[in-house]
Amino acid sequence: MFERKPRSEYEAALLDKGKRFMPSGPRNPTRSPDQAMIVKRGRGSRLEDCSGNTYIDYLLGSGPMLLGHSHPAVVSAVREILEDGNAYLLAGEACIELAEAMVDAIPCADKVYFQSTGSEATFFALRLARAFRKRDKILKFEGGYHGMHDYALVSTQWTYAPADFPTPVANSAGIPASVLGEVLVAPFNDIDTTAKIVESHADELAGVIVEPMQRTIPPRDGFLSDLRELTQRLGIPLVFDEVVTGFRLAYGGAQEYYDVQPDICALGKSISGGHPIGVLAGRADIMDCAGPAKLMSGEGVLLSGTYSGNPVSAVAALAAMRELRKPGVYDGLFERGRRLMEGLAALASEFEIPAIVSGEPPAFDLWFTEGDLANFRDMLRCDGKTQARFAQLLMDRGVVKAHEKFFVSIVHSDQDIDDTIAAARSAMEQLSSERAST
Ligand SMILES: Cc1ncc(COP(=O)(O)O)c(C=O)c1O
Repeated sequence: MFERKPRSEYEAALLDKGKRFMPSGPRNPTRSPDQAMIVKRGRGSRLEDCSGNTYIDYLLGSGPMLLGHSHPAVVSAVREILEDGNAYLLAGEACIELAEAMVDAIPCADKVYFQSTGSEATFFALRLARAFRKRDKILKFEGGYHGMHDYALVSTQWTYAPADFPTPVANSAGIPASVLGEVLVAPFNDIDTTAKIVESHADELAGVIVEPMQRTIPPRDGFLSDLRELTQRLGIPLVFDEVVTGFRLAYGGAQEYYDVQPDICALGKSISGGHPIGVLAGRADIMDCAGPAKLMSGEGVLLSGTYSGNPVSAVAALAAMRELRKPGVYDGLFERGRRLMEGLAALASEFEIPAIVSGEPPAFDLWFTEGDLANFRDMLRCDGKTQARFAQLLMDRGVVKAHEKFFVSIVHSDQDIDDTIAAARSAMEQLSSERAST
């Protein structure tokens, strides 16, 4: 049974320095000051803090550690390439090999371009769409997250006071009003409202960007295919943000899993065993807007980055992809994820706490709500305080999770799942008695 060791003086000193030298301080897994931690190391499905506590990790670096921490195949590939240099700007052998492997893996990919983060991948995807369509406006879905750039940080999961559709809400100071003027917002899983907005702005729209599974809300039957049909009919590029779903829901991402093909997609996170990567993939005619012919004519799209396609991330990605191609890997991931989803749902019903488990087995969360969860406004109606409290109680019991997500890796064992369900039972018990006493 996990018993949390008290914070060591060493960890307390690191936390203090973090607060002093970093404007927002060290990131806290549960937002409770008592539970702030500094990581010592990650190994497999475990994360260790600087006070000697080891947690079962479902935060997984916010998703990238699909193979678990320090997977031996990734570590060995990276160790080897470091002897040969780790940034050339020019493409190395692994970069070319990775481009071919990505085109083989991703259904919509005729060509790919590499970046270092998911934010860059979505940023460049939107730039490509604007250049291709020779229009400026982008439509996104309320509550969808596409990274930290100005076009993306609008009407995301941090929008506590949404505006009427299609008006965007900035989620940060510093986003120019002129950028807001180029973004339209629609409700996820509501094709009728979306179609009205898209059709009435069709002549201004450069592209539509969507997380195929928005946070942990899966698309309703027909939503993605209807969105595909709508955008295709109007000649508007459809961009899937697969930064979370890519290689996680299936080797070919959500476009394989839900069987709907976008024109362009942005990937990142799960590809490369935690080494920084972003991938922009798509139809040749759109991707060729960044090709030499267009650039020579002065109409090309610039997509460059110093670390784009760097050899370390490239060999790490190739090693990770080899592991993911092994037979049975996704079956195991789904089986264990599903068992945890079902275990959590059963506990909520046993303790008579209104909640639903939403998502797909490799990424999901327990949402405390009596209703359905189809879009961002449904999420806003969930009991966020109970959700945060549940995460804190889990952490006291040796389980760390992402804010609003459980990410499962291919190295979480059956025992990890059993131990997590046992921790969740004890957390639910405590939650239930706290609710009874208020
Ligand atoms: C769906 C989605 N898109 C884009 C991003 C941005 O990726 P990065 O943090 O690598 O810039 C994230 C990050 O959480 C994400 O979840």
